[in-house]
Amino acid sequence: MKSKDELYAVLAKKLSHIVPESELVIKAGLAWEIQKLKAEKNAVILGHNYMEPALFHSIPDFTGDSLELCRKAAETDKDIIVFCGVRFMGETAKILNPDKKVLVPSPKAGCSLAESITAEDVRNLRKQFPGVPVVTYINTYADVKAESDVCCTSGNAYRVVESLQSDKVIFLPDEYLAGNVAKDTGKTIIYPTKKVVPKSARNGNLDYQMIGWHGRCEVHELFTVEDITDVRRQFPDVVILAHPECSPEVTGASDFSGSTSEMIAYVRDVNAPRYLLLTECSMGDNIAAENPQKEMLRLCSHRCPHMQEITLEDTLKALQNEQYVIEVPEDIRVRALQAVERMIAI
Ligand code: 13P
Ligand code: SF4
Repeated sequence: MKSKDELYAVLAKKLSHIVPESELVIKAGLAWEIQKLKAEKNAVILGHNYMEPALFHSIPDFTGDSLELCRKAAETDKDIIVFCGVRFMGETAKILNPDKKVLVPSPKAGCSLAESITAEDVRNLRKQFPGVPVVTYINTYADVKAESDVCCTSGNAYRVVESLQSDKVIFLPDEYLAGNVAKDTGKTIIYPTKKVVPKSARNGNLDYQMIGWHGRCEVHELFTVEDITDVRRQFPDVVILAHPECSPEVTGASDFSGSTSEMIAYVRDVNAPRYLLLTECSMGDNIAAENPQKEMLRLCSHRCPHMQEITLEDTLKALQNEQYVIEVPEDIRVRALQAVERMIAI
């Protein structure tokens, strides 16, 4: 276990150019308290790539994208999983580990994609498109996963859809991720409204292979092709990376699109004069801290309010009070587990 001074040294090395010393002392103190409790309570801390820099670089045992953290959650032998991420991530950890206590440090850390669809919506779609397999993005709640055949993340959506070898696939709920997968796989996509399937589709007059939904990430939907044009005008040599929750037009105008960890790996491995990430802004800070020699441009006006709910202070309270406990009813968990395990197998 690191001492308070060692934690301070780690944070200062990575963040002293963006965070004042007095603040780093406070953050190192919090991280130290968290570390002690983590050991006492036999807990593991998983930190999503969007966590704020001081948290990201101090307390997690593992950091990563949704898929990597899902795998880590499946492997852990600790008694408590503290998920520094949003609720659907904590739920996925609970689905995989029913006997462990799973904590998410804020009860307010939701997700606009997870809110965009209900289990009943999925059942209705199944009635409208009988026999068509349902793929749901990991950014959904457990009851929606339970109605699905297989889950996917931004890191494996293409592979999951291709693995089904089905003429048609229902892909929920992210309109833009679905649009990006359709573009990459050469499939045509339709978006039925809540209750109505387009008449041409019902009559078999429309050739389509994917059925989508109108869910969107409230952060990524805000990036536009105009943002890209403006930045390229000022910095013609910039390399632009967009998360696949951005619209297909935005990913099409970017140089690379991938999951949060795939973007991190790209910046680490590919030399460019400068980079711009179209995703939650904290990740740019985290990458800049790991790669001080690389120049990161910032578009920080669009932030994820849910991820920002997770702080060092609340993570400490989460361990002290063992809050906020994630529960998933057993009948839902068992069905959701099948969809998550199928994804992990792929
Ligand atoms: P990743 O799976 O790429 O980490 O993305 C999760 C997410 O919520 C992006 O907004
Ligand atoms: Fe959900 Fe978007 Fe926030 Fe990711 S960035 S947690 S998809 S609202």
